[in-house]
Amino acid sequence: MINGKKSLTLLTGATSGIGLELAKRLILTDDLVVIGRKSEDEVHALISDKIQYIQTDISDPARATEAVVSNLNDMQIEKIDRVIHCAGTGVYRSPEQETSEEIDLNVSVNLLFPVLLTRALVQQIEAAKGKVVLIGSVAHKGSPNMASYAASKAGLAGFARSLEAEWRGRIDVQVIHPGPTLTPMLEKAGYKVGLERHIFLSPKVMADAILKTIHSHKKSATIFLGAKIKSLFFRKQTS
Ligand SMILES: NC(=O)c1ccc[n+]([C@@H]2O[C@H](COP(=O)([O-])OP(=O)(O)OC[C@H]3O[C@@H](n4cnc5c(N)ncnc54)[C@H](OP(=O)(O)O)[C@@H]3O)[C@@H](O)[C@H]2O)c1
Repeated sequence: MINGKKSLTLLTGATSGIGLELAKRLILTDDLVVIGRKSEDEVHALISDKIQYIQTDISDPARATEAVVSNLNDMQIEKIDRVIHCAGTGVYRSPEQETSEEIDLNVSVNLLFPVLLTRALVQQIEAAKGKVVLIGSVAHKGSPNMASYAASKAGLAGFARSLEAEWRGRIDVQVIHPGPTLTPMLEKAGYKVGLERHIFLSPKVMADAILKTIHSHKKSATIFLGAKIKSLFFRKQTS
């Protein structure tokens, strides 16, 4: 244990958007190990200096998996209660305009790294009777201008279903599909938010809803406008 908390969570994508909001909440209850590519100082300033940090770029999934496994061994972490794969990337472009480098990046970050790392950590997760949480997307069903992103997220959903069947009774597996959320990902992907802004959730509301789902027994969940309506209603009730 790092700070002696009851559970240990390993989180990717904790340096921005939804993952950052998840990290800020999880640090209150869990020992937190964060995987990211920013510098350790930046990440401590963003989240807390109480986290353990593994710096690696997951766009090289095999090398990053090795780095994570080796760092966890050095930290003598033998049990992991939760692995949350939240890191993600994408471009908003027609299928013909996506470059092969962009497609490679989407598939590597969104699908290949979660697959490789999850397999590599099966012993530690099973030792804690733990849970794997895969952050997918509503786009996994297919969405215009998001072909390779949608494919990577559909792959994640298939991976989750297979693990769920293989590991039932040993390790819980959950796939959570967020709906549109106002995070830096939109600008990075080249998506301009217009009149449809009202359908987007804030990363805070999304993180709250994701955490609630993580604490449930659902195998898969989609978080969309319902969470926004509930959060507005709750604010009115309590203000
Ligand atoms: N925003 C939405 O509308 C939406 C909708 C559905 C699903 N999602 C999913 O929700 C998750 C979080 O997305 P978000 O909107 O919060 O995105 P975001 O703000 O862009 O954050 C993405 C996170 O992934 C990390 N990451 C990306 N590439 C990486 C790499 N090569 N190596 C290490 N870390 C890398 C980023 O690290 P850096 O800080 O170093 O860039 C950042 O921490 C993603 O899986 C995304 O697909 C988002």
